[in-house]
Amino acid sequence: MINFRYIKTYFFLLYTVFLLSCYTANNNEFKDSLTAIEFGRYLFFDTDLSLHQNMSCAICHNPELAFTDGYRLSVNAYAEALAFNTPSILNIENNQYFSADDSTVVTLVQQMERPFFSDHPVEMGIQIDSTVVLNRIWNKYQNRIKNLVYSRGELSTNGLMDFISQYERTLISRNSKYDMHINSNSVLSPQELVGRDIFFNKYNCVACHGGLDFDKPVAGFSYYEVENEERKIKVLGLRNVNMTSPYWHDGSTEFVDVAIKWHSKILGVEKLVSDDEDVDLIIDFLYSLTDTSYLDNSHFLSPFTLKND
Ligand code: HEC
Ligand code: HEC
Repeated sequence: MINFRYIKTYFFLLYTVFLLSCYTANNNEFKDSLTAIEFGRYLFFDTDLSLHQNMSCAICHNPELAFTDGYRLSVNAYAEALAFNTPSILNIENNQYFSADDSTVVTLVQQMERPFFSDHPVEMGIQIDSTVVLNRIWNKYQNRIKNLVYSRGELSTNGLMDFISQYERTLISRNSKYDMHINSNSVLSPQELVGRDIFFNKYNCVACHGGLDFDKPVAGFSYYEVENEERKIKVLGLRNVNMTSPYWHDGSTEFVDVAIKWHSKILGVEKLVSDDEDVDLIIDFLYSLTDTSYLDNSHFLSPFTLKND
């Protein structure tokens, strides 16, 4: 029988048990909570980030293809073609520009406004109803992001773009045969070494493809005139070119030798057009820039398909 004299004590005990259980639940939540970079990774691979749950950054930037998609022009979820071929986003942390034809796009968040909000064609479709997307993301992740965002009211599309950009900056992988050569001086084959030499010295490709990722002109602007284009087009990086076919900003070339030959014609790099031997040697060198080691690191892969994540 309940003794009514002690009813206050019963309630007090019940309340204490309730508080203790909340504390334990919170502790579990804390154990599973995501860092900003990890949350960015989830968002990058999550189709729930798109309005109709049918598109993610990773569908176009697929890790298996050095974060490209293999299409000539990228396509959205409704099979409409975008204006450009999808570039790799490995090693972009120190890029200066993030658009093939627009040199005013200079930050990752500014760049992301296009896939987030563009409506011709739609990519993620978020501008149509960002509340639906934000609610969905909040409901799905709230228990794991309380350390980053306290309430649904604090979750914004800008915040999401910021988390994703933090993840993008960590996509660094420079473990190619060529990198090993730089570090130890003994890995490249004789052909690759000759290819390297003519790339750097005979044809001075580094005038435009300079820097750590072969995408920065040694001097001058990153945008150049190319054939059949009124606008100037950004120099592309040359790492992983044997994984990123088709080539050029419009994907108009499927084979790297054709890309180099056309290229030399368009940009006036003398003689290369007709010298198949030199082209082959350059390709040997370019293929030594291939690095697939990042595929062994789950950080670069989808958290939704891995068992241990
Ligand atoms: C429908 C396919 C598609 C989707 C979805 C998509 N992208 Fe892209 N991405 C592209 C294409 C095409 C370009 C080249 C556009 C340009 O040059 O203006 C690009 C360019 C980029 C660049 C610039 C790379 C550079 O060096 O110039 C970054 C960074 C990027 N995307 C990140 C993202 C992120 C983050 C998301 C998700 C929020 C995303 N993309 C969603 C196709 C896509
Ligand atoms: C005057 C500047 C310039 C020089 C010199 C130059 N390139 Fe390029 N390169 C570019 C530009 C700009 C692009 C991007 C063109 C586009 O997207 O349409 C590019 C793209 C490429 C691509 C295609 C990359 C891809 O992923 O689509 C390859 C391969 C390439 N260059 C190789 C070379 C080689 C080899 C040399 C030396 C023989 C060279 N380039 C010299 C400016 C230059």
